[in-house]
Amino acid sequence: MKPDETTIKVYNEKTADYRKMIKSSAELSVEKSFASSIPVGGCVLDYGCGPGRSAGYFAEIGLQTHAFDASIEMVKLAKMYAGVKVWQGSFESFSAHDTYDGIWASFSLLHAPREDMPNLLKKIHSALKVKGKLFLGLKLGTGQTRDALGRLYTYYEEEELKAVLKTAEFTWDTHITGASEGLDGTVTDWISVLAHA
Ligand SMILES: C[S@@+](CC[C@H](N)C(=O)[O-])C[C@H]1O[C@@H](n2cnc3c(N)ncnc32)[C@H](O)[C@@H]1O
Repeated sequence: MKPDETTIKVYNEKTADYRKMIKSSAELSVEKSFASSIPVGGCVLDYGCGPGRSAGYFAEIGLQTHAFDASIEMVKLAKMYAGVKVWQGSFESFSAHDTYDGIWASFSLLHAPREDMPNLLKKIHSALKVKGKLFLGLKLGTGQTRDALGRLYTYYEEEELKAVLKTAEFTWDTHITGASEGLDGTVTDWISVLAHA
């Protein structure tokens, strides 16, 4: 398993455009709620961090913050945030054990093929401490396709996501849904889930 080359190439080429995108108030409020569920000074990982805005926020409020992304251009931006340990890495090569109080996977795992998801979630579970928190943002729908820019997307319905998280031994806490315009200019429905190990 390795990152989808075309997807990463798009992020390398469109880093500046991606960085200009504004997060909705709903997304920002989930970020706050995730951060407030982490013990003071706890350790979090921004998994597929993009330009590192969430990681920068977690570090700013005093959390020990790690972040990785497969796109070298995204990693360069994320490194500009003080207090964040950032590296170029992939979902496929990520491995840690009992390390994180929380893992923030914000609209990153939607680029993993459906067949890889169970194993990736299992590895995330193992990287979390007991009762560690997981934030998972994905696009709602069915199937797997490339968008107009060539990025590979896997879509999930709520019930399928509940099942795949349960199989990886996560407990679903809350979720919200919404719709936003993406980098390719189309509006799509999304779901964001807060769960714990
Ligand atoms: C939609 S962006 C989300 C970025 C950030 N988490 C956010 O919420 O703004 C998806 C990110 O996932 C990264 N990504 C895609 N496939 C990856 C993989 N296999 N391993 C690591 N990062 C990956 C991309 O490079 C991109 O930065």
